[in-house]
Amino acid sequence: MTIEKATHSVRETQDFAAALARRFGPGAFYALFGDLGAGKTAFVAGLCAGLGVRATVSSPTFAIANEYRDPATRRRVVHLDLYRLSGPAELDSIGWDDYLESGDTMAVEWPERAGDALPAAAIRVRIDRGPGEDDRFFSVDAPDA
Ligand SMILES: Nc1ncnc2c1ncn2[C@@H]1O[C@H](COP(=O)(O)OP(=O)(O)OP(=O)(O)O)[C@@H](O)[C@H]1O
Ligand SMILES: [Mg+2]
Repeated sequence: MTIEKATHSVRETQDFAAALARRFGPGAFYALFGDLGAGKTAFVAGLCAGLGVRATVSSPTFAIANEYRDPATRRRVVHLDLYRLSGPAELDSIGWDDYLESGDTMAVEWPERAGDALPAAAIRVRIDRGPGEDDRFFSVDAPDA
């Protein structure tokens, strides 16, 4: 299944992500493809909002992993930014397999760094810029259930 959507503001991107999060529910794996400044981190903030996970979402570029947990629902969103990963071999050192087995919602920036380690069930989100400064185009591929 492919879902396509154009957005024209951060708010619209977050609303779109929130709607997807509600649709796919907790535990989904989102692989977020797009250049620097495409809006991957903005999208993750929307995922958290849609799942009712209150969090200040920021780019985990230096930390590699940010974990957002909501004390009320005990739901967790794991936000990875693999930009600085040298390659799939380094995934072990960040606890990749444990994350995959955790059942938590996963949102991964720069997923191409993970190579074949991306799960087959990943929802693949492609973000491209449009003609205007704030225009973004989303193409979301979810494996058929
Ligand atoms: N429609 C839009 N959706 C999302 N972000 C937008 C949109 N229009 C403009 N922006 C701006 O684009 C930037 C997106 O930044 P963001 O940190 O989400 O990108 P990123 O893809 O995570 O980049 P990086 O690879 O550097 O982590 C922000 O400055 C945001 O204000
Ligand atoms: Mg980012």
